[in-house]
Amino acid sequence: MKRHLTAVPDHLAIIMDGNGRWATQRGRPRWMGHVRGAQTVRKVVTHCARRGVGQLTLYAFSSDNWKRPQEEVKLLFELFATHLDRQLPELISNDIRLTVIGRRDRLPSALAERINAAEARTHSCRRMHLRVAIDYSSRTAIQTAATSGALERAMPDRSDATGAGILPSVDMVLRTGGERRLSDFLLWESAYAELAFLDVNFPDLTAADLDTVFADYAARDRRFGGVQVVDQLIKESA
Ligand code: IPE
Ligand code: IPE
Ligand code: MG
Repeated sequence: MKRHLTAVPDHLAIIMDGNGRWATQRGRPRWMGHVRGAQTVRKVVTHCARRGVGQLTLYAFSSDNWKRPQEEVKLLFELFATHLDRQLPELISNDIRLTVIGRRDRLPSALAERINAAEARTHSCRRMHLRVAIDYSSRTAIQTAATSGALERAMPDRSDATGAGILPSVDMVLRTGGERRLSDFLLWESAYAELAFLDVNFPDLTAADLDTVFADYAARDRRFGGVQVVDQLIKESA
């Protein structure tokens, strides 16, 4: 509960929203926004690792995104596969572990195989744990965990214990694109997460924007149901 003014969130979760609007605002097709968004992912990952974020969880495709036109979905999966191939050597050289969360059984099998291979090749990387949520629904993850018993292991007194789709607690959720909602992302894990919303569309997100968000995080007083840090200090010095 101590406040560290230089602290970055140990577990940062980002809802990468606003790709489509980035493109339509420029009179371009939506897919161009996804292409630019994928380029931004690389910068975000590098910057978070450099700033000392321990875990970065990125929302790339929700289970509700299947409702989108088939062409858009197809392009998104092609982008995931291309960027996975392109960025794997960089992840390894930067000591970043990659895990993909969400359902894998509905993904194109070639993509699922690439994901398995990338996870295996980065398994022992330790600097940062990058998770990408693809075909992810938090409600589904909670439901699965509840029926498998994993939810009990993930109770707050054992917050390190995770499994069956339940992740360690999230310290901050950042959503770009201007909407102020969670859209079925990490609902259980974000019980005490700080929330940050930026009006910037994801393709335009910069390292400087992230630093602003980190400064905002460092200035927050996380109480977890306890008392303010200043109250605690007064009590201790009395
Ligand atoms: C986020 O951008 C990427 C995905 C959901 C795959 P959007 O595609 O939702 O962009 P907007 O919200 O329509 O601008
Ligand atoms: C959430 O964004 C999913 C991702 C960013 C991957 P959406 O654009 O799908 O969410 P809604 O529809 O605005 O809630
Ligand atoms: Mg959106």
